[in-house]
Amino acid sequence: MKNTFYITTPIYYPSGKFHIGTAYTTVLADTLKRYHELKGEEGYLLTGTDEHGQKIQEVAEKNGQTPKEYVDQMAEQAKELWDKMDIHYDDFIQTTEKRHEVIVQKIFERFIEQGDIYKGEYEGLYCVPCETYFTETQLIDGKCPDCGRDVKPMKEEAYFFNMKKYVDRLLRYYEEHPDFIKPDFRKNEMINNFIKPGLEDLCVTRTSFDWGIKVPSDPKHVIYVWLDALTNYITALGYESEDDSLFQKYWPANVQIVGKDIARFHLIYWPIFLMALDLPLPKTIMVHNWIMMKDGKMSKSKGNVIYPETLMERYGLDATRYFLLREMPVAQDGIFSPEAFVERYNFDLCNDLSNLVNRTVSMVNKYFGGNVSHYNGTPNEVDEELEKSSVEQIQKVEKLINNFEIANSIQEIWNLVSRTNKYIDETMPWVLAKEEQTEKLASSMYHLIENLRKIAILIKPLMNETAENIFHQIGIKEEALKMWDSLSKYDQIKGAKVIEKGEPIFMRLKVEEEIDYLQKVMKQ
Ligand code: MSP
Repeated sequence: MKNTFYITTPIYYPSGKFHIGTAYTTVLADTLKRYHELKGEEGYLLTGTDEHGQKIQEVAEKNGQTPKEYVDQMAEQAKELWDKMDIHYDDFIQTTEKRHEVIVQKIFERFIEQGDIYKGEYEGLYCVPCETYFTETQLIDGKCPDCGRDVKPMKEEAYFFNMKKYVDRLLRYYEEHPDFIKPDFRKNEMINNFIKPGLEDLCVTRTSFDWGIKVPSDPKHVIYVWLDALTNYITALGYESEDDSLFQKYWPANVQIVGKDIARFHLIYWPIFLMALDLPLPKTIMVHNWIMMKDGKMSKSKGNVIYPETLMERYGLDATRYFLLREMPVAQDGIFSPEAFVERYNFDLCNDLSNLVNRTVSMVNKYFGGNVSHYNGTPNEVDEELEKSSVEQIQKVEKLINNFEIANSIQEIWNLVSRTNKYIDETMPWVLAKEEQTEKLASSMYHLIENLRKIAILIKPLMNETAENIFHQIGIKEEALKMWDSLSKYDQIKGAKVIEKGEPIFMRLKVEEEIDYLQKVMKQ
């Protein structure tokens, strides 16, 4: 049976247009899925919308819609964006779907029966937008520690999940499974900020509004939106339903990707819920940082929002995906700025990559009438050096992707691009041509084409169209030569012919003009 790779994104709050920050998680998830598929595995990507809670009820009312009308419309908008961004998701779950709601209810009743959930009274400080209660000490300057807005005192009869019962088990799990949390420093954050100070039992119902999944045995309570939302990762696979074949096939997930703001819910509550259900935990939960602007968070009021559509329409999907994924360090936030975007476009995509393709294709045409096949199969010293360093480079890339360090892996791919550009300077094909050193010249052309083929495979998960464009220009048609496992060898291309006239994949942008354009659209 094929290996499977199940990957989830957070389900999105249906709250209007997604900016590039909110699109980041899903682009990353899609890239990982494509990478595993390229390795011959069966990828499965889940995304969706998180549709219950007071905030949604309020927004829908303001819009003169029912909450369901509102969330359905938003879910359609989300799907439209994922289609435009060529996100290959396998399932889109809405938490208002029956297949989700009935299982959440079942899980909730099971927790009551097991004694994990008990009835009590809740008194605390509540943040409406975040739908979370806080204690006095958790507040920052008297405001919500997550969103910085006002909190208000609230008191209600409520059900609680007995978190304390599972804390030791969770800590042991962290210790025994070093791959569970990536990057590693997030584990210490959880332990020091939330677990060590004393993990409170979690209030898991609300009575102050009714847009949520009702507790079947006590229907004036609706289930806390996070308990409801987190379970989407298994309800979408048919857990506890009549047909749970997807669940059997894909659970536990290989990786669940989440932004840093929701790490706490995924690294503490989610594993505890799974433990209470006697289910295995996902192999990895990967926490990414945020895309920020130079002046902080993106917000309409600051006039610094950039939408994926804006970038895609003007610069194409691949450049947009490239920038997002390239610009996110492991331990810090990534910054979007018009200057950085234009610079990456001009340097990385145009100068380094596009020119390499263009120069190579025109040289093969000039020296061998487009044929790559004159190489006799014996690399000389310079070629061997290139082969060796390229294979090492590819191993580095693979290791980094497997560790979910995507920006670093892209940097290593570009090191291979630079190494290949350097090989042109080393072999100086124009001199070889002049001196009629035909064997060396043929070897140089062959190695350039081979490296371009490898580069195209490496970038394919993040820039599919560009990769296909390169394959087309260098005459690679056979599917096997586009697969990941063909990366390690150098004697693959037989009889390829490059296209007669290569088109530049990326054209140089006019710096000032584009920076002005981007600054203008950010203010709109
Ligand atoms: N509904 C919850 C998730 C429930 S999962 C069971 C939620 N939704 S969200 O729409 O607010 O955020 C969705 C994802 O986008 C989160 O992973 C969040 O971290 C991410 N991002 C939101 N803004 C972001 C940036 N500026 N940059 C990168 N990711 C960002 O949270």
